[in-house]
Amino acid sequence: MKNVNKVPIWFMRQAGRYLPEYMEIRSKNSDFLQLCFNPELASEISLQPIKRFDLDFIILFSDILVIPHALGQNVHFLKNHGPSLNCINSKKDINYLNFSECLCKISNVFETLKILHSKKGTRNLIGFCGGPFTVLNYMIEGGTSKTHSKIKGFLKNKKKEALDLMKIITELSIEYLKKQIESGANYIQIFESWAGLLERDEYIEFIVKPNKQISHEIKKYANRVNVIHFPRGSGKNYKVFAEEVYCDVLSLDHYYPQEFLSLLREKKVTVQGNLHPKELLGEAKNVEGKTKEVLEKFKNNDHIFNLSHGILPNTKISNIEKVIKVVREHETSK
Ligand code: CP3
Repeated sequence: MKNVNKVPIWFMRQAGRYLPEYMEIRSKNSDFLQLCFNPELASEISLQPIKRFDLDFIILFSDILVIPHALGQNVHFLKNHGPSLNCINSKKDINYLNFSECLCKISNVFETLKILHSKKGTRNLIGFCGGPFTVLNYMIEGGTSKTHSKIKGFLKNKKKEALDLMKIITELSIEYLKKQIESGANYIQIFESWAGLLERDEYIEFIVKPNKQISHEIKKYANRVNVIHFPRGSGKNYKVFAEEVYCDVLSLDHYYPQEFLSLLREKKVTVQGNLHPKELLGEAKNVEGKTKEVLEKFKNNDHIFNLSHGILPNTKISNIEKVIKVVREHETSK
């Protein structure tokens, strides 16, 4: 008899603006960070997609930019603009940051996880942080940048300061993740959303090294916890990432080297991904085919179904339902 396996499923940004029930809470809470630090509301938001859809994972509702906030940087989310942070330019600005006891400032996140843990049932609970370079990028750019000129200049002209700050972010992120695990998370995802900005030596130094340190420390602390890495946009560098960084799961976007899937099989790394979020904006009739294409592509790998990046705000709920139905009806035999 063949072993019948199901492909587990969740969506990056499954809690968020495409859900009317999220918008309802958001309309009464204009300060996004304060919403992240309200355990009752944040846990309710995390559970909103679970109430609507048949998903295998709950992800904590929070943001990667709670780390710069914990370090004392001013972080705000402006309407229709995204995040805004006071820029860091010099050693003086770095010295001004406050590292001692700073996890206390964001300890409500752990309370949210404890609530979620008590309600998770058989589902997995994902905690997360930003990849150190991605967090550094926001701290230096002061928000989402199109050109990334400040971070590129900073790496070039102030490399020592960049490495010092990366070290601080990496160590704080490890402590932060450990506390998330203590509070009930059994999966950890590291969102290195801007990995694609770097090449060669800089990729090794600013992407591979800190991500490697994080998974090493997390597995040493709690081997049972699964680590998901998402070095988005890595392209041909996905290979060196997978060779160097311990991953239980590797989340993929669209471009990766040909022979990559067999490398992941050899290393027993589960693939996560990679339906394009834009597919969820269109007609339901196309969604079925695109979902099946993804299932087919990864049929020889262990696979967690997901998107190649977060759900977009104008996503149609009926399309999410369609994807889940197709994945649930699909059976793999490995
Ligand atoms: O996935 C989930 O449902 C969990 C919650 C979550 C959020 N942000 C909530 C959020 C997670 C895992 C994140 C990660 C995050 N935040 C990343 C990495 C993933 C990625 O998208 O690349 C990054 C780069 C950020 C920083 C950030 N937060 C930006 C650039 C923005 C504004 C633009 C945007 O995409 O919305 C946010 C705001 C944010 N984070 C919202 C949500 C639900 C929207 C806030 C609102 O309601 O106005």
